[in-house]
Amino acid sequence: MNPSIMILNVLKKILSSKTIQLSLEEENIIRNSLMQRGGVSVEELFELKNKTAVLNNKDDIWNVEYIASKLKAFNIGVVKYFDEIASTQGISMKLASERQSGYSLVIAGRQFRGRGRYGRLWFSDYGGLWFSIGFSKPNKTGLRPALSLATGLGVVKGIEATLLLRLGLKWPNDIVWNRRKVGGILIESLVSEESTVFTVGIGLNVNNPIEKLPQNVGKIATSISRIVGHQIPRVPLLLNIVSNTIISIEKYFTSPGRIVEEWKEYDVLYGRRVSVELYPGKIVKGVEKGVSRGGELLLEDNTGKIVRVAMGEIIDFYGT
Ligand code: BTN
Repeated sequence: MNPSIMILNVLKKILSSKTIQLSLEEENIIRNSLMQRGGVSVEELFELKNKTAVLNNKDDIWNVEYIASKLKAFNIGVVKYFDEIASTQGISMKLASERQSGYSLVIAGRQFRGRGRYGRLWFSDYGGLWFSIGFSKPNKTGLRPALSLATGLGVVKGIEATLLLRLGLKWPNDIVWNRRKVGGILIESLVSEESTVFTVGIGLNVNNPIEKLPQNVGKIATSISRIVGHQIPRVPLLLNIVSNTIISIEKYFTSPGRIVEEWKEYDVLYGRRVSVELYPGKIVKGVEKGVSRGGELLLEDNTGKIVRVAMGEIIDFYGT
């Protein structure tokens, strides 16, 4: 059998059955394949004992030294964990402002005033992944919409690398599965004469109970544990998401065109009719035609003309 198909089959079995018996060959294959997947070793996802693989559920061990050591290669200089915090965004912005180079990572067990887009509250109970990556860039780089596309791409690639689960992206920055929201991204920036400080906030429903969300949010949300049918070890997932996100952000600053091309592969609404709310009361409709190099959404209107949308929210989509 083709080794990559074999790897996939074995990983799928472990992820769905929690415990499986392995041949020596299979064990080696898993070890090697996960080694290549963002540097997360097999022991972080599974315990391998006497040719048995058991899904690691030693969750919630937020050892910041360990996380920092794993992410050193990705230029993460500082990692902070707070069991409870209002939002990771503020402290992340402060840390990034104090540093000229490199990235910082702030993780929360729970946020009691988590922030979403448009000033919304982001419900962040224990069990999810709530974190912010901070960094600064010289000059007035400013906030550009494609940075959130780059982040979303890093997040879905990190999830795929860890769990073989391919989620989709919905412009500008929703992580989705079957029309339900699994996660979101909030990017904030502080521009001064010398630099722009960025805070990239990522929120992902992982093991947190969706039924505890307010009804209006819960009915359009889902979590990774619901999708795969069991709890997920969050540390390896976090490591792969952060490393892939940093790779994607770096790529964005050097060659934004490549990000846009890759983003399209995960775009769940390409070719579908959508309605976008530009601001309260102002809605544009059209067929989604991907994104521009600058990260704007491209909509084809009834006359065949392409309309560019820089900011807004897709409130309705058809034809799935
Ligand atoms: C959205 O509205 O879709 C964006 C949600 C972003 C939530 C994350 S959780 C970590 C970080 N801290 C916050 O307060 N918000 C972001």
